[in-house]
Amino acid sequence: MKHYPFLNLALANKPIMEELKQAACQVIESGRYINGEQCHLFEQEIAQLCEVKYCVAVSNGLDALRLIIRAYKEMGVLHSDEKIIVPANTYVASVLAVSDNGMNATLCDIRDDTMNLDSDCIESLLSPSVKAIMPVHLYGTPCWDEKLMNMARHYNLKVIEDNAQAIGARSGIPGLNGTCATGGLGHAAAISFYPTKNLGALGDAGAVVTNDKQLADTVRAIANYGSDYRYHNIYLGLNCRMDEIQAAMLRVSLKYLPAENERRNAVARAYCEHISTPHVVTPCVFEDMTQVWHQFVVRVKSRDHFRDYLKQQGVDTDVHYATPPHLQPCYRQFKSYKLAKTTALANEVVSLPIAHPITVQDAIDISNIINEYKPQS
Ligand SMILES: Cc1ncc(COP(=O)(O)O)c(C=O)c1O
Repeated sequence: MKHYPFLNLALANKPIMEELKQAACQVIESGRYINGEQCHLFEQEIAQLCEVKYCVAVSNGLDALRLIIRAYKEMGVLHSDEKIIVPANTYVASVLAVSDNGMNATLCDIRDDTMNLDSDCIESLLSPSVKAIMPVHLYGTPCWDEKLMNMARHYNLKVIEDNAQAIGARSGIPGLNGTCATGGLGHAAAISFYPTKNLGALGDAGAVVTNDKQLADTVRAIANYGSDYRYHNIYLGLNCRMDEIQAAMLRVSLKYLPAENERRNAVARAYCEHISTPHVVTPCVFEDMTQVWHQFVVRVKSRDHFRDYLKQQGVDTDVHYATPPHLQPCYRQFKSYKLAKTTALANEVVSLPIAHPITVQDAIDISNIINEYKPQS
């Protein structure tokens, strides 16, 4: 019986192993391990990809989000105890970045088709203390529409994109021809290069991207002990820098990102085309955007039973996410929130294998296995 792994990073990196080793050797031999040429070049490449002016390479995606909010606080744009609207269906990091800065997350329920923030709910969540909104491009699907855009403009909200899962994705812009890269849609965006991401480091890494020079400079300073120049500290800073070795690894993988996203897209389309059982709901493919399918998430009523069945057929699966932030023990204050759609979704989501080495043929074979699934009676 064929085995379909959910994720095997050693296998995923195998085709580029020699290039990675060579790039690592170059860094080791350079003697420059922090704040060097690799980070500098990587920042330029990511800014170009996200179609923005500035990129600051940082330690991870959570820090990227934390730094954006912290920088806005230092700039006097955001303040402690103010609120940021965050979709309820997200990885906990989106919410942690808000609470870590002494601010409050106002959780917004989701739409069933996008599994992401429902912009029709934004207005009811607004109050004078809401100062920003954080669209999360979850699973690699851009979270962007006319209502969100207009609401942010009208109420003067800062838009902080959580682009952790969607590097390379693009969204249509209402009123404009063509599409824009995620990361360049709002005022600032955070990216994660956690190893499992479509563009993954060999450890932790992240980035902040923005067109706002003051914000970029402030983030860079805070991430480097709060210093604007050497041994001169203007903020109570942190150490959130990206290592040269990670930048070098990422620069190798970046060359293959378009092909990787294309492969994921082909696999996702094969799943959508071939899964025909009424017991499994496939995610929507939106023609006005480019989704990059960080996860391929289906909905099933009896999740454990379904996953056990697939496991017996050699198909590994995962769940993103079984417990949304408002039901996590650390966020007891959200327990009374009525987030019906997010809560229902969390009980049903299953992520199918989509990472390398899954091929279109694998997706067709897995779809056929899924179509044979008989739910518990
Ligand atoms: C939606 C989302 N936001 C933020 C993060 C945080 O990124 P990192 O793990 O690099 O800190 C992640 C990472 O898994 C994520 O999926």
